[in-house]
Amino acid sequence: MITIEFNEVKQSFYGRHIFGPLTAQLKGGQITAVTGANGSGKSTFLKLAGHLLRPAQGTVTVKTESGELTQAALRQHLAMVTPELRFYDRLTARENMAFFLGLRGLSLTEAAYRKILDRVELPASAVDHVYTGEFSTGMRQRLKMAVLLACQADIWLLDEPGANLDEAGRAMVAREVQAAAAQNVLVALATNDPGEEALAHACIALAGN
Ligand SMILES: Nc1ncnc2c1ncn2[C@@H]1O[C@H](COP(=O)(O)OP(=O)(O)O)[C@@H](O)[C@H]1O
Ligand SMILES: [Mg+2]
Repeated sequence: MITIEFNEVKQSFYGRHIFGPLTAQLKGGQITAVTGANGSGKSTFLKLAGHLLRPAQGTVTVKTESGELTQAALRQHLAMVTPELRFYDRLTARENMAFFLGLRGLSLTEAAYRKILDRVELPASAVDHVYTGEFSTGMRQRLKMAVLLACQADIWLLDEPGANLDEAGRAMVAREVQAAAAQNVLVALATNDPGEEALAHACIALAGN
């Protein structure tokens, strides 16, 4: 089982305290909600969890059965949905998917690709032929979920995944998050949405300043 351990982590930027000291463990098979007001450090927490930011103090350790993962090894396990992920406007959604998966050495068979589009409820006609720049924000969010699913990662870092999604979209996220946890994926879910919070087995509440 995969775990992420925060040990006495204190985060600050330019001397300004954000949160901590925080000690917490996130586990494979569990959905952990990371909650708190705007600016409380939810997105920062996810970056620390993914070793995309070094803590100002304390340690963040990711372990599998075979021991601690290095930053490079961790990347093979990670998939993320964050506002920072941007698609190329003048590529079709399909080309964007192929590009981001290609960076990870992955490609999809036609059947697997169609299956993922079905799961995120995106019409193949749009994904195959429409420039991503013409997508609505909700469609782009669904495309981010599609890339996430295609990665087959065992750590999911989701930063407000339901943002910009309609009710059906939020239900899709809930379904996929629960299915992933049932497959032992470690899910960290930064959210302010009570519906998303209700999915979680554990909650890390960041107080805010
Ligand atoms: N790279 C950074 N440099 C300086 N300040 C940052 C940086 N990243 C985040 N912050 C600050 O840290 C605080 C927490 O940000 P964030 O993690 O985005 O909060 P949340 O996701 O809960 O809204 C904010 O005040 C933000 O301005
Ligand atoms: Mg945030």
